[in-house]
Amino acid sequence: MLWSLLFITLIGRSTQQDPGWETIKLDDKVAFQSSVYTDNGLNYTADRALDGNKETCSNTVEKQPINWWTVDLLGLYEISCISIYNKDQHNVDLSSAHILIGNSSERNAADTTECATINTNTKGENKTFNCVNGPKWGRYVTVYKNTPGLVILCEVTMKGIKKEPFKLIKENKTWADALYHCREEHMDLVSILDNETQVWVGLEAQKADTPFVWLGLHYSCTLDLWFWADDHCVGFDQWADKTRTADCSISGAMNTSGNHLWYKKSVYDKYNFICAV
Ligand SMILES: *[C@@H]1O[C@H](CO)[C@@H](O)[C@H](O)[C@H]1NC(C)=O
Ligand SMILES: *[C@@H]1O[C@H](CO)[C@@H](O)[C@H](O)[C@H]1NC(C)=O
Ligand SMILES: *[C@@H]1O[C@H](CO)[C@@H](O)[C@H](O)[C@H]1NC(C)=O
Ligand SMILES: *[C@@H]1O[C@H](CO)[C@@H](O)[C@H](O)[C@H]1NC(C)=O
Ligand SMILES: *[C@@H]1O[C@H](CO)[C@@H](O)[C@H](O)[C@H]1NC(C)=O
Ligand SMILES: *[C@@H]1O[C@H](CO)[C@@H](O)[C@H](O)[C@H]1NC(C)=O
Repeated sequence: MLWSLLFITLIGRSTQQDPGWETIKLDDKVAFQSSVYTDNGLNYTADRALDGNKETCSNTVEKQPINWWTVDLLGLYEISCISIYNKDQHNVDLSSAHILIGNSSERNAADTTECATINTNTKGENKTFNCVNGPKWGRYVTVYKNTPGLVILCEVTMKGIKKEPFKLIKENKTWADALYHCREEHMDLVSILDNETQVWVGLEAQKADTPFVWLGLHYSCTLDLWFWADDHCVGFDQWADKTRTADCSISGAMNTSGNHLWYKKSVYDKYNFICAV
């Protein structure tokens, strides 16, 4: 009795302490930086910090007021910590650089939140920085240095959990069947009410195997009205063709490539679709 109580207490503790942080796979992500140092025809590009090889480093160019390096995680993550490994090399000094997390590739204060300030030069060290005041949510992770010196990174790793507010269903269904499928799974066909959601849904749509994906966008020809399946009005829009009036039996689908514009499509067409969690 006592033992089983103790056992339950221990299990409870351990799940509380470990919310399931995983090492985020980075070698398939996209990195870029403020400038690229070149030596003997070798470009010290941003992706060298993510290639799993700690001998190859990214390196920005000298004599610039601001140096930065950014990785686009191509999705929304809850990030708990970031580790930076650097070789013991004379020009490595990241002290007082900031680790920023944001949803846009802009690096200004309005678009990012600080995870941590680097409090060591990282020379010959593999140093882990936990996000101050808890994990942060975002798509872009930036190392930002606005004090003299370069941004050199030999290997960057991070721990977090992928957050998927939208789920691409790779099945080809008519609009009504797609709606039914989402609702059966306690979700709804996605509504896009702002540019931020448009960007996230577009990212998910890129993985579809049909040229369009169904959105929760439907047209009532009796009312001559577009509406979202969850009853929201259509305010924000990304129509490729701005004419509002459509034929009967028309719904809205997103182009899976380009700027992810919306197109009027027959409800009987069969596409992949995106449910909102
Ligand atoms: C290095 O970068 C320059 C300028 O972008 C480019 O012309 C050159 O092909 C690159 N070299 C290699 C080896 O990728
Ligand atoms: C990024 O977007 C997510 C989802 O909308 C939000 O929870 C998070 O706070 C945003 N992150 C930043 C840095 O604004
Ligand atoms: C929407 O967001 C994207 C990415 O953050 C940005 O590039 C674009 O300019 C925004 N568009 C509008 C209309 O605000
Ligand atoms: C640095 O430490 C982190 C956390 O322990 C680890 O995941 C990562 O592989 C290490 N990096 C290098 C280059 O050793
Ligand atoms: C859905 O249709 C696309 C072509 O439009 C096809 O490539 C894909 O294999 C189909 N998917 C399924 C699950 O049938
Ligand atoms: C979808 O977007 C791509 C890239 O912008 C474009 O080439 C294609 O024509 C668009 N599809 C349609 C049906 O317009």
